[in-house]
Amino acid sequence: MSVAKGDYKKVTTHTLAEMKQKGEKISMLTAYDYTLSKIIDGAGIDVILVGDSASNVMAGHETTLPITLNEMIYHASSVVRAVDRALVVVDMPFGSYQGNSLEALSSAIKIMKESGGHSIKLEGGSEIIESVERILTAGIPVMGHLGLTPQSIYKFGTYNVRAKEEEEAAKLLEDAKLLEDAGCFALVLEKVPAKLAQKVAESINIPVIGIGAGNGVDGQVLVLHDMLGMIQEFNPRFLRRYLNLAEDIKGAVQNYVSDVKAKNFPNEKEQY
Ligand code: KIV
Repeated sequence: MSVAKGDYKKVTTHTLAEMKQKGEKISMLTAYDYTLSKIIDGAGIDVILVGDSASNVMAGHETTLPITLNEMIYHASSVVRAVDRALVVVDMPFGSYQGNSLEALSSAIKIMKESGGHSIKLEGGSEIIESVERILTAGIPVMGHLGLTPQSIYKFGTYNVRAKEEEEAAKLLEDAKLLEDAGCFALVLEKVPAKLAQKVAESINIPVIGIGAGNGVDGQVLVLHDMLGMIQEFNPRFLRRYLNLAEDIKGAVQNYVSDVKAKNFPNEKEQY
């Protein structure tokens, strides 16, 4: 099967800006380990997000809050070792940047130094703008994240769609402009009405990458394990499954178990 890798040998923050200008959509997926990162990089994904969703997907926590800076660095360095082409964005975990901007800068520097990632992402708008600005002064590219920001789940109370009301929508638009003015290279918009997301994408010059934010934005991101059908319990409207891997893996393991039990594995050719 042919691969749609675009014209870019290596994707950088500048590539993403160029893609927005040309109207070429940006593809982004999460990944947390070497093996899957190698596969999706080879398949032509533009951006790999080492998301703090690793807290749910890899560690089985209920929220993204428990994952630590060192755990994020472990995941990110595994991803970086696998990647030849994609831009690697690393999530700053909860508690590593909200205290003050100096703490935020030192967390961002630790991520860049110890993981080899190419950029960082953090959640929020005006509340964290000082940290965003300070991190940018160190030459570290920053991706913003607005709308549903899972690190604030205990403030929101639910994972429902955000910014349906005018006041929250207006604040989101203001925050998007603030992040652009500060110098962010891109913005993730999670679970907001499609019309609002399109308005944001049309109002700012940096790429807007949506998850549950409709098709009027500059790119799309999904959690890899969700789109591969490895997680069956999570069924939001925005999720498109491209495989049903949980069923396939289960079937393969059942076959292996019965082969072992029936003394069908290994056979003559599978031994020394
Ligand atoms: O951590 C994550 O997976 C994310 C995406 C949902 C954008 O932040």
